[in-house]
Amino acid sequence: MTRLSDTVSVVLQPEGRRLRMRRGVTLLEGTQEAGVDLLATCGGVATCGRCRVRVLTRGVPVTSADARFFDQEELASGWRLACQLHVDRHLLVTIPEGTRAFDQKILEAGIAANVPLEPAVRRFRVQLPAPTLTDLASDLERLDAGLKGAGAESVTVPHALLQSLPQTLRAGEFHASATVVDGQLVELIPGEVSTAPHGVAVDIGTTTIVGMLLDLETGEELAVASATNPQVAYGDDVVSRINHARTHPDGLRTLQQAVVGCLNDIIGQLCRRARVRRRDIYEVVVVGNTTMAHLLLGVNPEFIAQAPYVGAWRSARTVGAREVGLRLHPRGQLTILPNIAGFVGSDTVGVILATRLLESERVELAIDIGTNGEIVLGSRGRLLCCSTAAGPAFEGARIRFGMRAAAGAIERVTFAEDVHCEVIGARSPLGMCGTGLIDAVAELLRVGVVDAGGRLRPPEEVGEVPEPIRRRVRRHSDGLIFLLVGREEGAPEDIYLTQRDVREVQLAKGALFAGIRTLERELGISDADISRVLLAGAFGNYIRRDMALRIGLLPALPVERVEFVGNSAGTGAKMALLSTGARSAAERISRTVEYVELAASADFQDTFAEAMLFPLG
Ligand code: FES
Repeated sequence: MTRLSDTVSVVLQPEGRRLRMRRGVTLLEGTQEAGVDLLATCGGVATCGRCRVRVLTRGVPVTSADARFFDQEELASGWRLACQLHVDRHLLVTIPEGTRAFDQKILEAGIAANVPLEPAVRRFRVQLPAPTLTDLASDLERLDAGLKGAGAESVTVPHALLQSLPQTLRAGEFHASATVVDGQLVELIPGEVSTAPHGVAVDIGTTTIVGMLLDLETGEELAVASATNPQVAYGDDVVSRINHARTHPDGLRTLQQAVVGCLNDIIGQLCRRARVRRRDIYEVVVVGNTTMAHLLLGVNPEFIAQAPYVGAWRSARTVGAREVGLRLHPRGQLTILPNIAGFVGSDTVGVILATRLLESERVELAIDIGTNGEIVLGSRGRLLCCSTAAGPAFEGARIRFGMRAAAGAIERVTFAEDVHCEVIGARSPLGMCGTGLIDAVAELLRVGVVDAGGRLRPPEEVGEVPEPIRRRVRRHSDGLIFLLVGREEGAPEDIYLTQRDVREVQLAKGALFAGIRTLERELGISDADISRVLLAGAFGNYIRRDMALRIGLLPALPVERVEFVGNSAGTGAKMALLSTGARSAAERISRTVEYVELAASADFQDTFAEAMLFPLG
């Protein structure tokens, strides 16, 4: 039991919320335990600098990590890293908006799920003949025959339902509603139940989680809800999460509870919006990367991060929803679609399922750009996939003023006579998200402020550009910078791009493009053979195609060949929820699509170095 003297109070500003934290935990851990999510891209190992807070209580020591991220003036005014601050006294702390993990712009829509309606969850309404002296079949035989007559294949009846079977049948005068999930009877109700069974399709992304509630008798989508994956508090990328699970005694359980809690919240929201009861949900079908799937099932993902990067399973997994703590029908189930490899998960299977890439006659390329970029290339003859460590630059990490696509993020940048920035939520800018970053670099390339090698040119070397733009190239304590929005233009602080930021973009786009090149080589094709480029996922959906082409993030193809397919991983989950045929197709995808391990490709490093260059002209 925690005694009061073992805890200290921490007051969070600006809302004035008072928390009790265990003495000695870091401020990051304490806020996480209280359900306040701070950004912690590196998972608390003091390398990202995202967990900035301002401590208003005097005398809090400065760690060497603080000294790396803050200048003297900032340290003197109380700026510290929450992950390095051990709470040993009462504290008053301001959490700036840019440090809070919330308000994310989340893509919920995908392409339509066109599949025949043949879900694993079915409800049969049966009218059975009552036994007589000349019809002595047992209750179970009677039910079995009735279900077969209604179209159910052989159904197993669990012991608990057998125990109540005689009373249930007689209570409804042998008229009953039976709900069957994957050939197993999960519920038998006397009489006619008019409501339909429901299911939830979920896409668990490293950053965001989207859930969709479906009526399993009509296939209709009734509600959509989404949230930031609360695991972001333990690191932005899968490797940081794996590290957290490995290095903290209760790390795996904490991460599992975080995602399960979030799923329960999403299910609650869906139920409220569609006026459906939790107990009317019988199945949740999930897609996600292989690490997310491991964490959801509470399976140690440690070996995914070590060569040869193998997960604990590949085929689809089904477990009782209760076993993992999901709150739906007590006998409801959780199904996770199959993955392809340690770094290519069921979300990619979902994308392939939804875009029908495995059936395509022509060569197509699908890209899901996230912290890892998953790439699928080929046609029905041969489909290859790989995962590139694109790095979290496009999600705003490791960028001086990077942030996620949340309120206050610059999401569009255009150069004319001067720089024009569009900000999410029409408010003063706090930083820039991935699409803003790509736009900014693409525009700097176009006007020649950045050269093909990625070098930011000093003002005296910049050629013909409008003067207001030239004046934004400045020398600064961070080196050469390009000012996007200055304090005098209404930003709370100067927001600029550094030379290092441009290098991070080169690394990210280089990794992705080198992955595409490697798959092309493996298939013996070139850019020109690609008939369509499908951009999946939230980031892909908001990207400006011309800007992505300009920085060489995508193959040099006419812009009309690039299409957005939205949250197609989520569409894949919906298809599998509605159709057992789609589940078999997912299994086929997992077995047929060939995974290419880039680390094993002999010339990957050379391809990568080449791919880091920006296209000329
Ligand atoms: S520096 Fe604190 S979480 Fe990364």
